[in-house]
Amino acid sequence: MALRSLLLLSKQKQTLKLGLGFRGLQTFSLPDLPYDYGALEPAVSGEIMRIHHQKHHQTYVTNYNAALSRLDDAMEKGDASAVVHLQSAIKFNGGGHVNHSIFWQNLKPVSEGGGEPPHGALGWAIDQDYGSLENLVQKMNSEGAALQGSGWVWLALDKELKKIKVETTANQDPLVTKGANLVPLLGIDVWEHAYYLQYKNVRPDYLKNIWKVINWKYASEVYQNEIAA
Ligand SMILES: [Fe+2]
Repeated sequence: MALRSLLLLSKQKQTLKLGLGFRGLQTFSLPDLPYDYGALEPAVSGEIMRIHHQKHHQTYVTNYNAALSRLDDAMEKGDASAVVHLQSAIKFNGGGHVNHSIFWQNLKPVSEGGGEPPHGALGWAIDQDYGSLENLVQKMNSEGAALQGSGWVWLALDKELKKIKVETTANQDPLVTKGANLVPLLGIDVWEHAYYLQYKNVRPDYLKNIWKVINWKYASEVYQNEIAA
């Protein structure tokens, strides 16, 4: 992927917080969670949420900023091979930052409406394309469970076709690597770090329970905004 695309990709959501680094370079920072670490229990433990956010996501942010700083150096020196070498670190860590920034918004405590099914246009689209919400959940669970190694399962909107679809990405590849027209409505992290402390190796149980805290309101808002655009 072109460097320009990667940089655009990492800026795609306003949720990605920016600051200015010591050389005037833009840097990314860890977004706050919109709820307490323990607020998603019992579906996802507070310990998982705290480590996932404070350690894993923070590491992606730190390494993304470091790679972008090295990229700036390499560009300044005209070191073409160093620029190429940095692409994978930028994709992996930038993708990790993009994906987790979306993921936190895809979750919501039950007391605040987490797990409540989507209404309106997205609910209609799901019924039309998948028959029912239950069918969609089953498809995402089976694709998420079957994904080898680490990655993500997504409910995406193809904004050109104005159609929803289920996709998976490996490692920290963001959804846009599967198509420039794809907008993430909902992404579920199926890395072991997202569930192992609570669910051990039983990824299907994690996938079954996470729907109890899914923020369908967020997914519906993104869908409606993109459809109207
Ligand atoms: Fe994660």
